[in-house]
Amino acid sequence: MKLSDNKATISFSNGSPSFEMPVYQGSIGPDVIDIRKLYGQTGMFTYDPGFLSTASCQSAITYIDGDKGELLYRGYPIEQLATSCDFMDTCHLLMYGDLPSVQKKKDFTHLVTNHTMVHDQMQYFMRGFRRDAHPMAVLTGLVGGLSAFYHDSTDINNPEHRDIAAIRLIAKMPTLVAMAYKYSIGQPYMYPQNNLSYAGNFLHMMFGTPCEDYKVNPVLEKALDRIFILHADHEQNASTSTVRLCGSSGTNPFAAIAAGVACLWGPAHGGANEACLNMLGDIQAKGGVEKVGEFISQVKDKNSGVKLMGFGHRVYKNYDPRAKLMQETCNEVLKELGLENDPLFKLAKALEKIALEDDYFVSRKLYPNVDFYSGIVQRAIGIPVKLFTGIFAMARTVGWIAQLNEMIADPEYKIGRPRQLFTGSVRRDVPPVNKR
Ligand code: CMC
Repeated sequence: MKLSDNKATISFSNGSPSFEMPVYQGSIGPDVIDIRKLYGQTGMFTYDPGFLSTASCQSAITYIDGDKGELLYRGYPIEQLATSCDFMDTCHLLMYGDLPSVQKKKDFTHLVTNHTMVHDQMQYFMRGFRRDAHPMAVLTGLVGGLSAFYHDSTDINNPEHRDIAAIRLIAKMPTLVAMAYKYSIGQPYMYPQNNLSYAGNFLHMMFGTPCEDYKVNPVLEKALDRIFILHADHEQNASTSTVRLCGSSGTNPFAAIAAGVACLWGPAHGGANEACLNMLGDIQAKGGVEKVGEFISQVKDKNSGVKLMGFGHRVYKNYDPRAKLMQETCNEVLKELGLENDPLFKLAKALEKIALEDDYFVSRKLYPNVDFYSGIVQRAIGIPVKLFTGIFAMARTVGWIAQLNEMIADPEYKIGRPRQLFTGSVRRDVPPVNKR
């Protein structure tokens, strides 16, 4: 970051001396006011629940311009990455800063593919779960549990440990997600196959059985690979900030990523694709496209507590560029599978059309986000709704790891410790029990 000529001055109406703060510039995006010395100098904190105006770190990985609807990974637009690169390119880019050469890609892919197997004892760990456990509950446990199996990569301060933990996490996540699925339906686990692509191997572990050969459908493989690219990173979102905060205590990378998985589960974040598909299913059950108007009225009624899932975003105040790419993939997958007349897809399109024209959504700049179409694609591929967030976690693992490793390597990094505005009782004495 670069020190700007500009400076910010904060002044107080009670006569306390004003305080001048440096301003830093990034390569693009808003400048930041450096408030680190504010408390020491004025005895005051800043107040920003939800981090609406707070940059919690400096980062060179992902940039979002929410007004333009632009998403860049290491400077490259998501549209170009989604159409010209695959997920392995994207992982290399996010982790090491640049797209790999042919040889580097071969080496990197080899490294990832050779770590896809999990410790055989993981299956006994798995057996402790109920068969109907939510996959995110299972994943939170399994990912945290990796730290008990891979003791040689748990020292976050050792760059070699960080590197190998990153590769292990990226490589083993699909195996764990597929295991969670197979366990839930009572089928045997399928071992990873190293001759397949990252997405192809995942399809094989999900839908293959030991009874017959599984042939990967290239259209579905490409669609899944695109889902992975689009979800790979999204700068300082809730789960990434969770991973950074958790990792800032010096905990091991598996534990930090498990915290990210737990955060992602929520319906306002990664759980939105599941919630979105459930919403479409509910409207469909009540009458489908004809009920769209009624549903939109409910969404606009603040007392109803109903939200249009898959719409709105903290940062994008324009069409989420990932949603456009996902809609394209949705068309391809439904065509391939002969599901062009899929009622939920038609319903989604009808909802989108009405919402994009309605003043409630227009005035609040609420547009479809990535989750609006990703659920339909995943459902068409055969992925159960409950597993959607698990797929998101699998794809986001590389982003979490890249951000975590960037933080550890940053000389300015400190344990994260927000402050508070205390509104509780002032000091008081404990009364005797008969006077409470
Ligand atoms: N449906 C109806 N109203 C909405 C919606 C929605 N989906 N999203 C925002 N609003 C309204 C909100 O009620 C508020 O209205 P008002 O100003 O009258 O009080 C206004 O729009 C601003 O919303 P906000 O809640 O202050 O915005 P936020 O930045 O705090 O929330 C959000 C962002 C994503 C949590 C929210 O838009 C939402 O809950 N969307 C639905 C869930 C969803 O699709 N989440 C996936 C996000 S993308 C994937 C990811 O990154 O994880």
